[in-house]
Amino acid sequence: MDPRRIRNFSIIAHVDHGKSTLADRILQMTHAVSDREMREQFLDSLELERERGITIKASAVRVFYQAEDGETYVFNLIDTPGHVDFTYEVSRALAAVEGVLLVVDATQGVEAQTIANFYLALEHDHVIIPVINKIDLPNARPLEVAMEVEEVLGIPADEAIFASGKTGEGVKEVLEAIVKRIPPPKGDREAPLKALIFDSIYDAYQGVIPYLRLFEGQVRPGDRIRVWSTGKEFTVDRVGVFRPGGLEATPSLEAGEVGWLTAAIRDIHDVQVGDTLTLAQRPTDAPYPGFRPAKPVVFAGLYPVDSGDYQRLREALEKLKLNDAALFFEPETSEALGFGFRCGFLGLLHAEIVQERLEREFGLDLIATAPSVVYKVRLKSGEEVEIHNPADLPDPTRIEEILEPYVKLTVYTPEEYVGGIMQLVQEKRGRMRSMNYLPGKRVELVYEVPFGEILYDFHDRLKSLSRGYASMDYEQIGYQPGDLVKVTILVHGEPVDALAFVAHREKAYAIARSLVDKLAEVIPRQQFEVPIQAAIGGKIIARATVRALRKDVLAKCYGGDVTRKKKLLEKQKEGKKRLKAIGKVEVPQEAFLAVLSAG
Ligand code: GTP
Repeated sequence: MDPRRIRNFSIIAHVDHGKSTLADRILQMTHAVSDREMREQFLDSLELERERGITIKASAVRVFYQAEDGETYVFNLIDTPGHVDFTYEVSRALAAVEGVLLVVDATQGVEAQTIANFYLALEHDHVIIPVINKIDLPNARPLEVAMEVEEVLGIPADEAIFASGKTGEGVKEVLEAIVKRIPPPKGDREAPLKALIFDSIYDAYQGVIPYLRLFEGQVRPGDRIRVWSTGKEFTVDRVGVFRPGGLEATPSLEAGEVGWLTAAIRDIHDVQVGDTLTLAQRPTDAPYPGFRPAKPVVFAGLYPVDSGDYQRLREALEKLKLNDAALFFEPETSEALGFGFRCGFLGLLHAEIVQERLEREFGLDLIATAPSVVYKVRLKSGEEVEIHNPADLPDPTRIEEILEPYVKLTVYTPEEYVGGIMQLVQEKRGRMRSMNYLPGKRVELVYEVPFGEILYDFHDRLKSLSRGYASMDYEQIGYQPGDLVKVTILVHGEPVDALAFVAHREKAYAIARSLVDKLAEVIPRQQFEVPIQAAIGGKIIARATVRALRKDVLAKCYGGDVTRKKKLLEKQKEGKKRLKAIGKVEVPQEAFLAVLSAG
């Protein structure tokens, strides 16, 4: 393949601005997918992605485009997710390309992740083609949005292309711009192999399949390859490219290309995303610089409902990690829940997605505990410890101070919602850093806020108070001391480690009150009365009671309505799947997450 005819690019955008739809249209217009095979969100291959209509994983595909200059070009398109939790996927995808399409919704304008993703592309020095999308909508204001892109991001408005992924209007221009504006990949194909692993999957038959961007050299079946960081060596079985229907084998891969290889790599630890592959006989002198490893910022416990599934859960986590480099896990034991794993995530959506993938793709039934941020504790002994689980917080008498993580929070909003947003952030203990007026009566607000405060319901509240118009982005900015306390929950007199949480002292009472009430609601009645208490240290600060069971559930089904009875029993069984016995009390999954809605 002549590298001058290759274009490697990504599509980046704020959530829902239409990346996946534009990618669909590009596939169709390059005849990569026939009209019959075409389905919406073609590249979102995970069942979950299609159901939720969001992109979680970056994915790659290679198509051919016959340009107006008469030449045929190879496009390697890497689709990326837009949600802030998946920024890590975006930065990996960007390491593998030379240019990006920055999609901006013509009815919404520049939003928080438009800017965040723009800066990621800028860091890589990529060519950025702004695509003002959804111009078919009646309330589209393409010219205004192009001006906004110029003023906020500094990309001249006349570089913008107006398009609609839905109708296909303007997409031809996008394809031509890819050919004309994005440079072909550089890289010496005679040099020793230097290939970046930007993703990987596990296949039951072929083992680990690393996804590669070749920067230098070539690779073909039979080559002996070496993993840069571990020195491990493998013999290549097959190499190939990504086609819309799946993986397609090719005779070789060369500098500038995006593809995959198989080499009977059985141990998933042997190839890590971000590592470099080279040839054993003729190694490259330096690896690709790689990218910052993802750092999990939210931790939660995952436990099998059936304790016999522990080993299966471990295997599932290992396999999932291969496809999700940002996932972290380590074994954990809970008095209440038994053996499980403490898992680290990039955010709440990431945590939710991982749990759902484990359940669907690996057939596991899991109990998740409430996600929590990572606290740091300075002990009187001078030692400093990181706390991934509220239950692990040392005894207060040993603590000098507790530090909590802060984020720099950036909110973009139309002017009229500024008042409401300021009030909301204040409630969340945020401090304003700056406020800027942008074109189009939009305002950028920048705050410092404790991360734990915006973890749960902040985004939803922001959206509802701004009727969906405000958007946000955040990044970690380190730790600050806080007046924090650990609240212990006792069920039937027994402290339940998996229900403990950390809160600001002033808010602890209200959260505890609302949590015990919620628990009393969701914990099913037992044969006896169950007190539920919240305590700070030895002091009980809130209490509620689950009253004893009086009637049999079936008593409600007077007469002989068998189907109704069956249904009820069925429902009960369904609920049982997610119950964990704590002492004598059966506690459902909902209880462990109740603290999320108690804040
Ligand atoms: P994530 O994958 O979640 O980041 O979203 P995305 O940016 O890939 O957006 P997606 O392509 O899923 O589109 C979001 C919504 O906008 C869907 O309901 C699409 O049907 C709609 N949409 C996308 N492009 C257009 C367009 O050009 N015109 C109109 N009218 N609707 C569009």
